[in-house]
Amino acid sequence: MKYVLLTGSTGGLGTPCVERLSKNGWTVFAVGTNRDKLKKLGELPGVIPIGADITDTDSMYAARRAVMEHTDRLDAVVNLAGVSFFHSLVENDPLPCVERALAVNVLGTARTNAVFFELIERGHGRIINCSSSAGWMTAQPFAGAYIMSKRAVEGYNDSLRRELAILGIPVIKLQPGSFRTSITGDVEHGYDETLKQTKRYRAVLTKLKPLMDKTLRKSEHPDVFADTVIKALETKHPKIQYRKNSSFLLRLLDLLPETWIDRIYRIASR
Ligand SMILES: NC(=O)c1ccc[n+]([C@@H]2O[C@H](COP(=O)([O-])OP(=O)(O)OC[C@H]3O[C@@H](n4cnc5c(N)ncnc54)[C@H](OP(=O)(O)O)[C@@H]3O)[C@@H](O)[C@H]2O)c1
Repeated sequence: MKYVLLTGSTGGLGTPCVERLSKNGWTVFAVGTNRDKLKKLGELPGVIPIGADITDTDSMYAARRAVMEHTDRLDAVVNLAGVSFFHSLVENDPLPCVERALAVNVLGTARTNAVFFELIERGHGRIINCSSSAGWMTAQPFAGAYIMSKRAVEGYNDSLRRELAILGIPVIKLQPGSFRTSITGDVEHGYDETLKQTKRYRAVLTKLKPLMDKTLRKSEHPDVFADTVIKALETKHPKIQYRKNSSFLLRLLDLLPETWIDRIYRIASR
């Protein structure tokens, strides 16, 4: 019997992973806060839904107690829970977005791994952390909260990988590009709200919209990402990171020196 705990199970990328893992015979501890979605996941063979908030330490210890009713070891923890925002870093009260992005994406991931570490160690398991193309590509404006959180995930992941290499526990980083889930919907909603409320950026936001639409149109189906997660989980010798569907345009931009990219943004916003 193989045991995996997966946060973000109720999300657009997480649910297809849970479905695939259930089919492949895994026992999945599916973590989320949305009760209706958890109930539905619980109907799948081998899926044990666990209502838990990864920003809350007590809630995560309660989740660990729930897992330990079934097993004292895990073959893997997959951290997919995450939030994203389209927001200015200076206008319209930006700090709640920044705090939430760091609380869920960074501290939530670190908390989950710390709380479940002994079970992973006992199971000679592996840890999978979800960054984003935003974690390594050149930074885009109006995505600051998300970008700073995913860059922190990158640093956290890489340091953890080198620490746990000492103990023989693989740590794997996922770097998805754009996939059609509610997170991409949140970004579109954030754009509309920012445009409605801005005193300074109306012209530039209007000009940047086609680029944003183009990136979102290239969003892949979440099943494609599930293939990558399954590979990272089931392969005997996993790679240290898996990239999927990074935007061609942004990859191209990423090849240029930062000062050139600044100039392109300046010209584009005139
Ligand atoms: N979709 C993309 O284009 C894309 C691109 C790059 C990276 N990613 C990354 O991929 C991961 C999954 O994203 P997604 O597209 O599946 O997003 P999604 O559909 O919005 O799902 C987000 C998931 O995170 C969970 N979550 C959020 N806050 C939580 C909390 N405090 N406690 C427990 N669970 C929490 C949600 O659970 P509940 O709703 O049950 O609370 C949900 O399962 C994220 O880390 C995201 O940054 C996504």
